[in-house]
Amino acid sequence: MSEPQATRREFIAGAVTLGISLPILNAQVSFPSATPTVKGPITTTLKPDALAADKGDDSHSKDGFILTRVGKDVYAVDTRCTHKGCAVALPRSKSLLICPCHGAHFLLTGAVDPNAEENPARGPLAVYAVSVDATGLLVVDTSKKLKSGDAGTVVKIP
Ligand code: FES
Repeated sequence: MSEPQATRREFIAGAVTLGISLPILNAQVSFPSATPTVKGPITTTLKPDALAADKGDDSHSKDGFILTRVGKDVYAVDTRCTHKGCAVALPRSKSLLICPCHGAHFLLTGAVDPNAEENPARGPLAVYAVSVDATGLLVVDTSKKLKSGDAGTVVKIP
């Protein structure tokens, strides 16, 4: 007893369907990227005191960082999640950072949120060197990825 064999036409139709559906399926499961577009100093559009207290600003997330303010301290937090590298985002409250891929939660300093019930984060988010230029705008150096607390990672609002 032999199995029915696909005709040449059926084989080609199946190959075409597979060739079309695999890229679509692949696109549906891809995660947001956290790759900075530029490695080096980026002059932002914000002055430190333009940031609301204890909130983040994601207007530069395409550059690979989210500006945050904790009290009078301003940080440039790397968007690359420490779990598997997706780009973290600000929720509507703008008071913490959440990864859309598997739900990691981080504080605005980049530290792992100790209050999250389940947190797949493998460590704190990195922070970039941040400074203020002569015009008062924040400058973030995406070539200098550091740990929160390292020198040069905070701009203090007077
Ligand atoms: S990649 Fe961020 S939680 Fe998994």
